[in-house]
Amino acid sequence: MKILVVGSGGREHALCWKLAQSPKVSTILCAPGNGGTAEIGTNIPVKDDDIPALVALAKEESVDLVVAGPELPLVLGLSNALEKEGIPCFGPGAFPANLEGSKAFSKTVMHEAGVPTADFRVFDEFDSACSFVKEKGAPIVIKADGLAAGKGVVVATSVEEAIETLEEMMVKKRFASAGDRVVVEEALCGEEASFLAFCDGKNYALLPSSQDHKAVGEGDTGPNTGGMGAYSPAPILPEEQYGKTAELVIKPILEHLAAKGEPFKGVLYAGLMYTPNGPSVLEYNVRFGDPECQPLLMRLETDLVDIMMACIEGTLDKIDVKVRPETACGVVMAAKGYPNDYPKGMPISGIDEADKLDGVKVFQAGTKPAPDTGVVTSGGRVLCVTALGKDLVHAIERAYQGVEKIYFTDSYYRRDIGEKGLKRS
Ligand code: AMP
Ligand code: GLY
Repeated sequence: MKILVVGSGGREHALCWKLAQSPKVSTILCAPGNGGTAEIGTNIPVKDDDIPALVALAKEESVDLVVAGPELPLVLGLSNALEKEGIPCFGPGAFPANLEGSKAFSKTVMHEAGVPTADFRVFDEFDSACSFVKEKGAPIVIKADGLAAGKGVVVATSVEEAIETLEEMMVKKRFASAGDRVVVEEALCGEEASFLAFCDGKNYALLPSSQDHKAVGEGDTGPNTGGMGAYSPAPILPEEQYGKTAELVIKPILEHLAAKGEPFKGVLYAGLMYTPNGPSVLEYNVRFGDPECQPLLMRLETDLVDIMMACIEGTLDKIDVKVRPETACGVVMAAKGYPNDYPKGMPISGIDEADKLDGVKVFQAGTKPAPDTGVVTSGGRVLCVTALGKDLVHAIERAYQGVEKIYFTDSYYRRDIGEKGLKRS
């Protein structure tokens, strides 16, 4: 099979790495890809939001399966456009992808499907949003409705901050039309976990729990990032609770969308907050998380092509999704300054040495191939050094041994990835 993976992050390197292990796969293309995907297949310089160009590429290359890494192409209708051409695509159509593409849609679906989530209101007008915020008080959460590159959520600790945020989004148009509509919701407290499931529209197969580290600084301090590290399983969501949790947060969504004639096929990612009253859904994503994907795929035993084709064909009930019992931990190495401004073009050394360590795999994110030096940095999150270990202590130890082998100027990483899990286990 010839497979086209869309995207350019650590998640996409991990997807290419896992797909390439399938005996069914002969060729991997990645658009636009990074330094890591270039080592597995061929990078093609087509952007992830250029739907006509992606469809043309898939046709031209007679691709057998397209795998969408990020949410943007899905929200823009990549899956629908490929379906019209008879090309299988892993990832939901534009309507179900709105679970991630529109916070108002997502919250409304959760409410209608009876999924536990924070109380909320949707606003199209600045003045009425402000009145509501003043009535409710702080802390309060403001969310831009549309996609805002992970920056559209503010947990405001004062009414003033909430109103400033509303002004930025609705009046000053910081996120363009993505902020025309906002969701204002109750702030929840607790520990977060990620819970992902393969879905074929009707059936689902669960992946083990995982936990991201969104803040840039140790102890969850500083601004939010795309994610500075992840591990799986997360003790906050132990295996014996997977079934019950899926009945609460996965099954009702699949049933609700199927009843609307818009079945969800792909990976459904529930971002959970463990409050004193139990789990509550903060958000849905319609794709693998980055960096959760890297530890999860290191644990996945089953052929990923078989799973993805079963999701598309509606035969997931025939597949036994097997996962290794080991723990996996991924530590993100970033460029100094991320998530704000950061330098690019720094040569990276030591990836091969880290890869040689037992159980360690370095997934590349913001990198690009360079003629003399192998790869250089080209983004904020540069690498995700991921390791399997017999338990969390061992997986963390191995991941940081990998990190120590790698060098680029002013690299930055959190030293406490997995610590919340250690406290709990
Ligand atoms: P979202 O994109 O909705 O997941 O929001 C991004 C991050 O904002 C989450 O991972 C949480 O850390 C935080 N967040 C979102 N909604 C809430 C909420 N209702 N209460 C507290 N924190 C939240
Ligand atoms: N790691 C969080 C996300 O992918 O949205």
